[in-house]
Amino acid sequence: MKLKVAIGNVTEVETAALVVNLYQGVKKPAGATGAVDKALDGQITALIKDGEITGALEEVTIVHTAGRLPARRILVVGLGKKEECDLEALRRAMGAATRRLLQHKITRFHTILHGGGDLEATGATPRDLAQALAESAILAAYHWDRKTVPPEKEPGDTHEREKATLDALTVVEKDGRKRAAITKGLDRGERLARAVVYTRDLGNEPPNDMTPARLADEAKKLGKEHKLGVRVYSRAELERMGMGGILAVGQGSKNEPRLIVMRYNGGRAKDRPVAVVGKAITFDTGGISIKPSASMEEMKFDKMGGCAVFGIMKAAALLKLKVNLIGVVPSAENMPSGDAYRPGDILRSYSGKTIEIINTDAEGRLILADALAWACEQEPREVIDLATLTGACVVALGHTASGAFGDPDMVARLEEVGASTGDRAWRLPLYDEFGDDMKSQVADIKNSGGRWGGASTAAAFLKFFVHENVPWAHLDIAGTAWVTKSRDYRPVGATGSGVRLVTEYLASRF
Ligand code: BES
Ligand code: MN
Ligand code: ZN
Repeated sequence: MKLKVAIGNVTEVETAALVVNLYQGVKKPAGATGAVDKALDGQITALIKDGEITGALEEVTIVHTAGRLPARRILVVGLGKKEECDLEALRRAMGAATRRLLQHKITRFHTILHGGGDLEATGATPRDLAQALAESAILAAYHWDRKTVPPEKEPGDTHEREKATLDALTVVEKDGRKRAAITKGLDRGERLARAVVYTRDLGNEPPNDMTPARLADEAKKLGKEHKLGVRVYSRAELERMGMGGILAVGQGSKNEPRLIVMRYNGGRAKDRPVAVVGKAITFDTGGISIKPSASMEEMKFDKMGGCAVFGIMKAAALLKLKVNLIGVVPSAENMPSGDAYRPGDILRSYSGKTIEIINTDAEGRLILADALAWACEQEPREVIDLATLTGACVVALGHTASGAFGDPDMVARLEEVGASTGDRAWRLPLYDEFGDDMKSQVADIKNSGGRWGGASTAAAFLKFFVHENVPWAHLDIAGTAWVTKSRDYRPVGATGSGVRLVTEYLASRF
């Protein structure tokens, strides 16, 4: 995949396709779209007049130039309303254009820098615009499957044409002074997207292959590639350490649990690290409190918090972030069996605190209790965790945003970065009352607070294990970590949510 800048005029580029844009409600296009329209004898204006092009966000119209321009086709992509246009609108528009072109097996194409002057007026730089283009094109072009039949030989496969891969994207810009900024933006977007793709690849792996041990092997591979320190704790070691939460959740499965720790040192030696902790349940059956079978196959994505941590470590290395990071990924498979933990069990967690098990399907918080307490001992300056923790969070926010809990300053910043990256976070409350719901009559805490406010009671449980003086934010990515229907630049399967959010958060803060 090549990303390039070409300084020149849109009416002069030779390409299979050139992507230009239109705001909703514009009757007569200006700028690059206007120049193209003129060369096409007003064909775009005519299509607008006939109502075939409206400029609605993600609308894509293909116009063949039939020799009137050196570009064979023009794609007019809708940016939506001008006053609502932001970097995320741009990503969605570019995602739609990319998907359409790949459907037609056009794998090399040109685009203008959408949003140009207008978005720059809102503070976005040419570098930001270029980054957004690169991110969305690469992420929209993503595809994962394990079919052995070549797509063209598969009868009646309607997705066949979506499987082309993106080879080259060139930004056409007439102002030569922007070249350096655009090149930088494309490069940054490409690196960030590569980290997201990595997280998606890990996440889409099926649960028979991606076991806790395999995930640990992947961490070692990642460590070699990017010079990260990697330490994997085996089941026996977890026993010696007293990691009662991870061990209990993993004890019903033949695939033994692991605790994976990765270190990236981009800061000064004396800088305290930021700890990023991620839930990696490689498959969540619910255990003895077994889940209904409908959609249970989706529970291979219960490892996405951990996979996001892998992606964040990779992104930090690729972007050379000036921060020290510790990635902490507790991993287990939650299975029912004769050896499985049960409701009624009382565990002793790594912190020493006891936990009464009410429901073995509330397992994510148990492995995180150990991981968070361990992370706090590393004297981090702050801790962020990511987890597909609760169905309740999906009920609250759908697939539109991850829930954000904890330290108000961290959460406010995560919300801001969420809005600009489109990898959204939305604040949910962590009132003291939620902690009351988690009180046990026989142990220090219980693992389920019942049905109501489930995302917040889960967060209250986690808080119980985070050291008092450590700023901490919790991201519940249950609704955002995967999609079952392709949307904008997120094809079906793992989305890699949290990777761009936390990486840009770190980049903006440290
Ligand atoms: N991994 C699930 C949460 C989940 C469910 C994520 C559906 C995405 C989609 C988690 O381990 C779980 O089962 N949580 C329970 C907690 C309850 C038993 C207190 C839940 O949300 O129902
Ligand atoms: Mn569960
Ligand atoms: Zn789970």
